Amino acid sequence: MQDYANAVKEFVEDHYTGVTFVLITGVGLFGFRRWLAGGVCRSKARLDGKTVLITGGNTGIGKETAVDMAKRGARVILACRDMSRAHKAAEEIRKRSGNENVTVKMLDLASLQSVRDLVKDVQQSEQRLDILINNAGVMMCPKWHTDEGFEMQIGVNHLGHFLLTNLLLDLLKKSAPSRIVNVASVAHERGKINFNDINMDKDYDPYQSYYRSKLANVLFTRELAIKLRDTGVTTYALHPGVIRTELGRHVFSNLWRKLIILPFYFFFKNPWQGAQTTIYCAVDESLKHSSGLYYSDCAPKETAPQGRDDVAARRLWDLSASMVGLA
Ligand SMILES: *[C@@H]1O[C@H](CO)[C@@H](O)[C@H](O)[C@H]1NC(C)=O
Repeated sequence: MQDYANAVKEFVEDHYTGVTFVLITGVGLFGFRRWLAGGVCRSKARLDGKTVLITGGNTGIGKETAVDMAKRGARVILACRDMSRAHKAAEEIRKRSGNENVTVKMLDLASLQSVRDLVKDVQQSEQRLDILINNAGVMMCPKWHTDEGFEMQIGVNHLGHFLLTNLLLDLLKKSAPSRIVNVASVAHERGKINFNDINMDKDYDPYQSYYRSKLANVLFTRELAIKLRDTGVTTYALHPGVIRTELGRHVFSNLWRKLIILPFYFFFKNPWQGAQTTIYCAVDESLKHSSGLYYSDCAPKETAPQGRDDVAARRLWDLSASMVGLA
């Protein structure tokens, strides 16, 4: 033991600069990583007797959010496109939360018929809906189209959720106080909505298409809050953080890009960290009387100017309503 201590002492004395460097760098990196991880939802709110529906809850932050909701005692409905993956995720969520009340329903947001079918199913089988989490999304995919011929990113990220939310409003109002959480992104800051070419038929750009679909989430939240005034239903938009999930599958699709991106994985939030702001918006007591705003790192955040444009929010609402056949 004595020998060992002496050996360590000698080593440190001989390599004083190196050891100091390693220690300082280590502590620095650790602190930096903690800082990058962002806010944590500290609310202890329970959800016993309540029901949460989350779109795309079978992977990434959606799954982590679902685990958290289940731990708080909620009945959790995963609305997913791939049923076999959804069933597997539901099993994992039951195990990790110790809550058996986790169920799976089919939802393909790229099909308005699928949205209507899911809503019918929910209306028939559920007594209540306390929290709707619009979490599913596609990111920077090629120029694909939904069943109705909408450009895929605006179709799934905005229009499908727009219809879903509107058709579930009666149940949400009946269960008030209830919440609608829209997972947007800081990417909205680069978004512009061209109302004359909402599907970007003229010049499709996968990045701009994504940015404007996230801006649509922010504007939707804003107008929805106005429409829901005095109903007991509140709504929130948020930026989850840069996360290592499958959402990036179109961005990092080839091996070289994967290798280049690898070192940056250190800087990304893990899915649990990425889920914290969604959870905060879904349950935190301090947000009870807020609605229509935008959050990041478990705190309110100002949107980009185009995210506060009430005229555009209204116009997007009307256009969306006519596109999905609600007007
Ligand atoms: C599942 O959750 C719902 C809503 O929270 C509740 O009414 C129901 O009793 C629960 N079912 C079981 C089997 O725990």
